Amino acid sequence: MSVSTTIHLSEFALAVAKGLGDPTQKKIPPRYFYDDLGSALFEAITLLAEYGLTRADERVLRRFAAELPALGTHVSSVAELGSGSGRKTEMILRALADMNPQLTYRPIDVSQAALNICQSELSGICRIEPVCADWSDGLKYVSQRREVNSPLLLLFLGSSIGNIDREEIDEFLTGLRSSLRSGDLMLIGADLVKDRELMLAAYDDPTGVTAAFNLNLLGRMNRELDAQFDLRSFAHEVRWNQDARRIEMHLLSCRQQTVPVGALDASFEFQAGETIWTESSHKFTIEEFEDFAHASGFTQLANWVDDAWPFAEVLWEAG
Ligand code: AVJ
Repeated sequence: MSVSTTIHLSEFALAVAKGLGDPTQKKIPPRYFYDDLGSALFEAITLLAEYGLTRADERVLRRFAAELPALGTHVSSVAELGSGSGRKTEMILRALADMNPQLTYRPIDVSQAALNICQSELSGICRIEPVCADWSDGLKYVSQRREVNSPLLLLFLGSSIGNIDREEIDEFLTGLRSSLRSGDLMLIGADLVKDRELMLAAYDDPTGVTAAFNLNLLGRMNRELDAQFDLRSFAHEVRWNQDARRIEMHLLSCRQQTVPVGALDASFEFQAGETIWTESSHKFTIEEFEDFAHASGFTQLANWVDDAWPFAEVLWEAG
């Protein structure tokens, strides 16, 4: 008789096993940045002078919210992929709740902590029904509970779309479309291509907050997966990939080293100068969004662009 042991590995552990086991390029998906410390560091990033993205997003959303009385007359339900702190959503909810006192907001996030903050910040404005799930499952759940006789507004803000590889965007958006009804609205925030030095500085700030955000991924593996990364032996590296029009973040091994990961009962070998690719932040042109819309079953109704820091908000209607 053989003895079998079942080991339950977390989703994070499985992603690390796969990503660090890749013989061509070690990589870890950016969604794992956001444990409690990572989320706090991201909030700090949004306050950096070099990271103009969040403030531009807020400026454009303010313009959008001012136009909502003309645009979103019958919206009774707002859903959001990744709720964040809720600061940006507040302006939109206020504008819609003025027109529709029955408004319900359904933020979708994997972090219960983020949802709790969101709920306490926004509960004075309208009804909140937080959905603790990944985006795809969360949106399916929302589509079962939503009101069917008035349009839903889906928010996908902050250039989260930038984390998706360009070749995968059509499929991703088509997936969102399948959980929506004809006439529903979607608002997407996207950072635009701009001066190379500005883009690089936004991800390589002199204060070192983004470096800490990147290195925290190693810290998280140490804390949660019993790994033994020496954070001082890795460096934050940022590249602009002109062909793919994206910022890439890497963690560069400063020396040859072997790192045990206890939870995986495995060790990973790093050559000096070898990297773990941790994030792609794609930058767009406004023209690309017309094409994305058509390819995934939407029509573009309007767009708004910030002058000071090129960043766009595009409004789509599901066809
Ligand atoms: C939250 C994915 C939009 O790509 O700009 C900020 C995350 N990474 N600094 C981005 C991030 C490094 C951010 N997104």
